[in-house]
Amino acid sequence: MTELISGGLFSGSAGTAATFQTDVDVGVQRFGEHWVVTRRDLVKRILTDTETFSPSNALNAVTPMSSVALRVLARYGLRLPPTLANNASDSHAGLRSLVGAALHPDRVESLRPWLTGLVGHHVSDLVERLDQGMPVDLHADLTAQVPLQTLGKVIGISVEDLGDVRQLSAAALELFWAPVTGPRQLELAHIVGAHHARLRHIVRRSPGLAAGLRQHVKSTGLGEDEAVAALFFLLIAGQETTAHFIASLIYRLLVEPAVLDAVVRGAMPVSDVVEEALRLESSIVTWRRTPTRDVVLDGVAVPAGASLVLNLSDAGRDGLVDPDTFHPGRSGGRAHLAFGAGAHRCLGTQLARMEAAVVVEAIAAVLCGVHVVAAPRYADNLSFRLLDCVVVAKSAA
Ligand code: HEM
Repeated sequence: MTELISGGLFSGSAGTAATFQTDVDVGVQRFGEHWVVTRRDLVKRILTDTETFSPSNALNAVTPMSSVALRVLARYGLRLPPTLANNASDSHAGLRSLVGAALHPDRVESLRPWLTGLVGHHVSDLVERLDQGMPVDLHADLTAQVPLQTLGKVIGISVEDLGDVRQLSAAALELFWAPVTGPRQLELAHIVGAHHARLRHIVRRSPGLAAGLRQHVKSTGLGEDEAVAALFFLLIAGQETTAHFIASLIYRLLVEPAVLDAVVRGAMPVSDVVEEALRLESSIVTWRRTPTRDVVLDGVAVPAGASLVLNLSDAGRDGLVDPDTFHPGRSGGRAHLAFGAGAHRCLGTQLARMEAAVVVEAIAAVLCGVHVVAAPRYADNLSFRLLDCVVVAKSAA
């Protein structure tokens, strides 16, 4: 069973991850500098054994930074010490518990009524434009808006203060995870550097999580850089990931009319739909770890310090009947690894699931009366599945 990672996951792309041709029956395969792991049990073992497999390479730039780009970043004061996802040091537990408190399931749940109002407002605007015969980009005008506003609310920092977080997130995902040319890398370094400098000001004076981070680094002997890095990572982790995931989920519903119909009739739990989409349509398809010592994985020798690319997407298909079929509520479907596992498991699981469910509930009936004008195209990226748009127009009655 051979599958091109580019097929379905990075469709239309021709770069880093697209060059991996994985055989999902083989646990570990080498592609140049990367060892790609596809089997679910192996992926889970690597994610949970932080002693043998460090997360320290999680944010390493796929295209090595040129010295000029590094100088640009340094000029903006950008330093990225171990923060959350890439932190193998003792400071991880404290930072994780602080950010985890802001994202506690009860706190997230209490935002549901507010979120439902916000999404309802966006959907009403879209419906008005669709009724006037205008095409609408459901990504730009809905799914890209909701996570940012929600994140601002969760961390208690105003969206206006945060600046153009979408631009920061998009630039960071390209700078760190995409194959980029020299001139593009410089351009991205300027964008990311300028935003990072703004975050330093926020950490110095803003309330909410910024104040919590200020106090935390002071009381634990960490530096300001650690606080800025944590906020920087959180804004990226909690924004584009969810925006693109929900957009891909909406597109999947548009091309799965039977599922959409069942959702609208109330015959299929929305939570099952969200879970199946996490398995098949997640915005994070791979994640990295590095062995702290030489290891043998599934008979393959992998040296200490190598880049292990854990194919979360393949792992979510492993061992299931008709794994590519979108079948909400299927047996074993919830055992996917879309949010990782172990000490670094995603802290935004509850929030991402709730945002997706609220959007699906609000938009499902609208989707029944529209057709796709432009199917999404996916950017070339090692870890993130990023689409450009989901443009729809009202269908003739
Ligand atoms: C569909 C949306 C999302 C997906 C697919 C996703 C996926 C992931 C994955 C795969 C990891 C790495 C886990 C590991 O190394 O084991 C991660 C880490 C993380 N995510 Fe998410 N995530 C999503 C949304 C969010 C949101 C909404 C937030 C917060 C607002 C968030 C915050 C974090 C944080 C803080 C970490 C690092 C945790 C740590 O290292 O201790 N994520 N996420």
